[in-house]
Amino acid sequence: MIGIFDSGIGGVTVFREILKTLPNYDYIYYSDSLNNPYGDKSQKELLAIVDNIVNYLVNRGCKIIVIACNTASALCKEYLREKFNVPIIAIEPAIKQVYDKKTPGKTLLMATKGTMDSEKFRELYEKYDNKEIYLQECAGLADLIENDDQEQIREYINKYLKKYQGVENIILGCTHYPLIKEELKEVLGDVYFYDGAKGVEKELERVINKIGLEQSKGSIEFIDSAKNKKKIDRFWSLLN
Ligand code: DGL
Repeated sequence: MIGIFDSGIGGVTVFREILKTLPNYDYIYYSDSLNNPYGDKSQKELLAIVDNIVNYLVNRGCKIIVIACNTASALCKEYLREKFNVPIIAIEPAIKQVYDKKTPGKTLLMATKGTMDSEKFRELYEKYDNKEIYLQECAGLADLIENDDQEQIREYINKYLKKYQGVENIILGCTHYPLIKEELKEVLGDVYFYDGAKGVEKELERVINKIGLEQSKGSIEFIDSAKNKKKIDRFWSLLN
């Protein structure tokens, strides 16, 4: 069994990528919408929250944990790796992908406050900074996506992101953001999107082989901490 979690349904963008190549394993996806958003929480608050989730998933028999949330990854991965005796895979903003591409052009990097303020993010940014990256903290955007508030999502993009018209690349540094690619394109044009989902899938495959996790029925269990019916329905429709 493999456990995946996020502050809500955003991590489905990572899970979809995983299922493309690794469908024959059993998964539990834990959507913590009760504590959403993670992006504005302190590291101390977040550590207590994710500690409970990972504890639950490990007790349910998960042999590998995937943090499908950039904020929780940046702020909690080291703590979780030290505390739990299972491999913990963490997502990170896809700065390296853009760096490796080496084509000229400006890049907009969007992420939560928690991610951008973190030491882990700073380290990553300094390592792969090509001097053409605009950093934009997107407070509140993940909540709008979580609640599927189309009108407010469009207003938000127009208000805070329109100024980046002309960028060539957008790094989606929060797992909720790939859900609004179309809305971003409407305002910012035909940009290239980058996110960390593929990197997570590759790492998961490596870890599965390393620990010798056996293939199974390919079952998927979805848990929402707020037991929100709308969210449960949305998860399944996004997954299919
Ligand atoms: N999806 C999460 C991330 O990747 C966090 C969204 C939130 O709860 O603020 O950062």
